Amino acid sequence: MRRSIIDIRDLSPSEIMELIGTSEDIIANPAKYAHKCEGKKLGTLFFEPSTRTRMSFEAAMYELGGHVITMAGAGSSSAAKGESVADTAKTVSCYTDIIAMRHPKEGAAFVAAKNASVPVINAGDGGHSHPTQTLADLLTIYREKGHFDNLTVGLCGDLKFGRTVHSLIEAMSRYTGVKFVLISPEELKVPGYVKKEVLQEKGIPYEQTTDLETVLPTLDILYMTRIQKERFFNEEDYLRLKDSYVLTPEKLVNAKEDLVIMHPLPRVNEISVKVDEDKRACYFKQVLNGKYMRMALILKLLKEAGTI
Ligand code: NCD
Repeated sequence: MRRSIIDIRDLSPSEIMELIGTSEDIIANPAKYAHKCEGKKLGTLFFEPSTRTRMSFEAAMYELGGHVITMAGAGSSSAAKGESVADTAKTVSCYTDIIAMRHPKEGAAFVAAKNASVPVINAGDGGHSHPTQTLADLLTIYREKGHFDNLTVGLCGDLKFGRTVHSLIEAMSRYTGVKFVLISPEELKVPGYVKKEVLQEKGIPYEQTTDLETVLPTLDILYMTRIQKERFFNEEDYLRLKDSYVLTPEKLVNAKEDLVIMHPLPRVNEISVKVDEDKRACYFKQVLNGKYMRMALILKLLKEAGTI
């Protein structure tokens, strides 16, 4: 059956464990997977800038032996002539077996999935969600910690517009004993719908603060994020808030020895490059883990659709 992934909750916790298992097997036995998608095509439709997400989807499909067709960019596709997402999805379904799409509008991936005849994977829809970044994040947490339960997860930066934050909260809130520490400027707090529908609904403990340094020693995971410039309505607010948090080696002195420092990247100024040498810095591991999880997800969705 054709299935699309629009939200991280489209995958159950047991399916996430299955994807982690496949990723670990791919890491251990890459040759076993080198021809699994031979002759199959991934379409990448990116209406917003991307380095890691698009390239990791493309690398994933090549490493599975498949092909990639990519739309050169929103400005040079028929979107610039006014074509709808629905028509674009119908069209691209004629050329491909699976689609990964990023779009600046919340809900665009949902519309694409409704209209496509192949599986659609949401590669980020506006300030809403980013499920495959969360898969990369979950594999990273699992490989570093060995489990998801009883972790204190600090999310820091732009929690309002940061779609990776919303998806990670949704995913981690399904495990036992997880606590969230939400660190942001007043103006960039987690949206009410995430607090209400995810945290309060399930009675998950969370604390909101503007002060990173005070809470840092209590954290098992620190997830830093970029202030999302492109989603601001005025430049002035962005300039005022952009350097709200900068993680430095000095600030990490009282942090736990086994803290896992994460960032979906790109970083602008939120983590000093000096932190890269710290053994707790895991953000480049996250990049590589993203490729393996996307390989596992493409395989799963193509298998379920009966394409492979
Ligand atoms: C993130 C995104 O696009 O939401 N990047 C990514 O996919 N790794 C984070 C960001 O742009 O800040």
